[in-house]
Amino acid sequence: RTPVVVLISGTGSTLAALLEAGAHPDCPYEIVGVIADKEAAGLAHARAAGVPTAVVRLADHADRAAWDRALAEAVAGFSPRLVVLAGFMKLLGAPLLEAHPGRIINTHPALLPSFPGAHGVRDALAHGVKVTGATVIEVDAGVDTGRILAQVAVEVHEDDTEATLHERIKQAEQPLLVDVVRRLTAANRTEQEPIA
Ligand code: GAR
Repeated sequence: RTPVVVLISGTGSTLAALLEAGAHPDCPYEIVGVIADKEAAGLAHARAAGVPTAVVRLADHADRAAWDRALAEAVAGFSPRLVVLAGFMKLLGAPLLEAHPGRIINTHPALLPSFPGAHGVRDALAHGVKVTGATVIEVDAGVDTGRILAQVAVEVHEDDTEATLHERIKQAEQPLLVDVVRRLTAANRTEQEPIA
């Protein structure tokens, strides 16, 4: 099965969905490692599933460049074919991007190119949109600027708060991401070819 590494910063409900699908023997991918940039609550999902974890904190490194290198090393240690950002809230540096060209994907809780960045749900709500959603992209050096791989629309309700809307987005986002990861890892590709 195709080895996948997942990067998280938060509660890890997206990771849990990926782990659940990946637990089936007929699933084309296997999550071989989970890395967080802090002691994220979501690491518990990986530990419960017996998947190795690592924490690479910015504060433990001399500067951002050293952290970028350490994160790239931690990922490389798992030899993944695909890297999935599942609520990972830091930008990736060149060492990681260059080590996995075209093989890092991210899920974002808005319909890109609208509302990129750390507060996609809040920003969409504040703008008064009636429809928002989730987007899975290929990661590049920009903030949520990579090639769009899949999207799903979600209606905004009159009484939505950031929390209720984000929860409804996650219900649509997680199956979408699982589908994309399955599709990308199921294809029979050469090592050199970008996976997405
Ligand atoms: C997900 O909705 C994901 O799209 C978002 O964080 C959530 C993670 O939830 N990511 C971003 O906002 C990235 N800019 P989780 O911790 O419950 O998996």
